[in-house]
Amino acid sequence: MRIIESVDEMRTACAGMRRSGRMLAFVPTMGYLHTGHLALVERARAEADTVAASIYVNPTQFAPGEDLATYPRDLDGDIVKLEAAGCDLLYLPREEEIYPDGFATYVTVDGITARYEGAFRPAHFRGVATIVAKLFNIVGPDVAVFGQKDAQQVAVIGRMIRDLNVGIRLAIVETVRDPDGLAMSSRNVRLSPDERREALSISAALRAGRESIAAGADIAHARERLLGTLSPSIELDYADIIDPHTFDVPVDGGGPLLGIIAGRIGQTRLIDNMRLDAAAER
Ligand code: PAJ
Repeated sequence: MRIIESVDEMRTACAGMRRSGRMLAFVPTMGYLHTGHLALVERARAEADTVAASIYVNPTQFAPGEDLATYPRDLDGDIVKLEAAGCDLLYLPREEEIYPDGFATYVTVDGITARYEGAFRPAHFRGVATIVAKLFNIVGPDVAVFGQKDAQQVAVIGRMIRDLNVGIRLAIVETVRDPDGLAMSSRNVRLSPDERREALSISAALRAGRESIAAGADIAHARERLLGTLSPSIELDYADIIDPHTFDVPVDGGGPLLGIIAGRIGQTRLIDNMRLDAAAER
């Protein structure tokens, strides 16, 4: 695996791959990699001949007071994992090349970013859309692989790709969970054993919502089941059932439904989501 730190070198390496007729798939991450991230690399390998990944804890998607400074890092471990997963190119952007002095240009996606994660983390999606657009410009992949774990991020990037005629295909990987149901996240290492037990009520609540819908309940009742299953010790930002494409209020009658939950357990903020309708892949 070739490790690259400069924009010019990354651009040249990726352009060279594509000129030689090789398809390039790209997996952007913030590191502290777990099995969920590696499932994205595996998907990237299935989608293309060459796989590029990036590790960069992007400061513009963290608000003041969020966990930028304490975001978990383990570059040496990440390199070993990516190598074993068959990643070909690893890009480790340098801060001064990504946000040069006087940096003033951002990508803002309207509409969908006003709700849920966007409402609780103002400027978060502006930071995400900006860094992803920059990485797309540098890497220029054929396919970019993202996780359904961050459902609203997927919707925002999809909107940006369509609106800016980016010409990169999105491949979305289902959320990878621990055997007990907890969605894998770099932030899970911060949970104490007690907190982890509380956290299990998040995936349990989503499953309860899914069972309600399967049993014929309407959305309002499924939402009550979902809320009733959540541990009261979770400091909830939101728990809702929405249309996965628009993040709007869904209508009863068999359309696609996504359960979404975000909240804090102690100091750790967790998010999760699950398709609740019968048509969804399990
Ligand atoms: P990060 O949180 O490191 O996640 C990188 C990618 O891994 C994202 O596409 C995310 O959805 C996916 N992912 C995380 N946990 C997963 C799981 N349990 N199962 C499947 N996929 C999972 O998301 C970001 O970084 C950043 O916002 C980024 C896109 C890199 C921009 O800075």
